[in-house]
Amino acid sequence: MQNSITLLIMDNLSFSIRPIRPDDKDSLQLALNQMTSQSRRSRFFSGRILLSAQELAYFTEVDQVNHIAFVAITNELLPAGSIRCVRSPDRANYAELAITIVDKYHHLGLGFRMFQILATAAIAQNINYFFGDFQNSNTQMLKLLEKYNRSHLQEKGQLVVRHTSDGFLSFEISLT
Ligand SMILES: CC(C)(COP(=O)(O)OP(=O)(O)OC[C@H]1O[C@@H](n2cnc3c(N)ncnc32)[C@H](O)[C@@H]1OP(=O)(O)O)[C@@H](O)C(=O)NCCC(=O)NCCS
Repeated sequence: MQNSITLLIMDNLSFSIRPIRPDDKDSLQLALNQMTSQSRRSRFFSGRILLSAQELAYFTEVDQVNHIAFVAITNELLPAGSIRCVRSPDRANYAELAITIVDKYHHLGLGFRMFQILATAAIAQNINYFFGDFQNSNTQMLKLLEKYNRSHLQEKGQLVVRHTSDGFLSFEISLT
């Protein structure tokens, strides 16, 4: 697995994207503290601000095979975001996707770059599809998926998005 990739935004802002580690627990919690309640709701479907010790262990102690996760850290060593996918227990080449970028770093291309990196790592582990749910008001997430779909796939129609009855969008996207 790749070690670290640098995304240069401007002279005084860059992000280092690398596989998550067990010692990222504090930085994961700090990232959550710095997100707006709207973004926390978009990710966790609730405004909660504290992760439990069990959740922090689950999020950071990953095997990078069935649970693949990356973090982004700024050049000032501040947490900027994380992305993960967890292999489906009943469909081995599918994994559920979750992504969180700290609000002040939104719309800089970081989410898209992290998605690309996660997709490459997932394909190497024979994961060919990401799936997940997000609120139907979450246009940023929809745009991110559409952007990946446009730039990476030869065939059209690889991204499938369905409205669910409870105000969510459920998606499936092919990575290969
Ligand atoms: C969804 C999310 C991950 C996008 O991350 P990001 O780093 O801002 O995304 P990018 O900068 O890579 O942008 C990807 C595309 O999304 C769109 N987008 C991102 N932020 C946007 C904004 N504030 N307004 C409008 N469009 C936006 C753009 O179309 C962009 O494509 P472009 O570069 O061609 O314009 C981020 O908004 C987030 O963390 N939200 C809270 C958590 C969440 O919703 N997670 C998804 C459910 S698990």
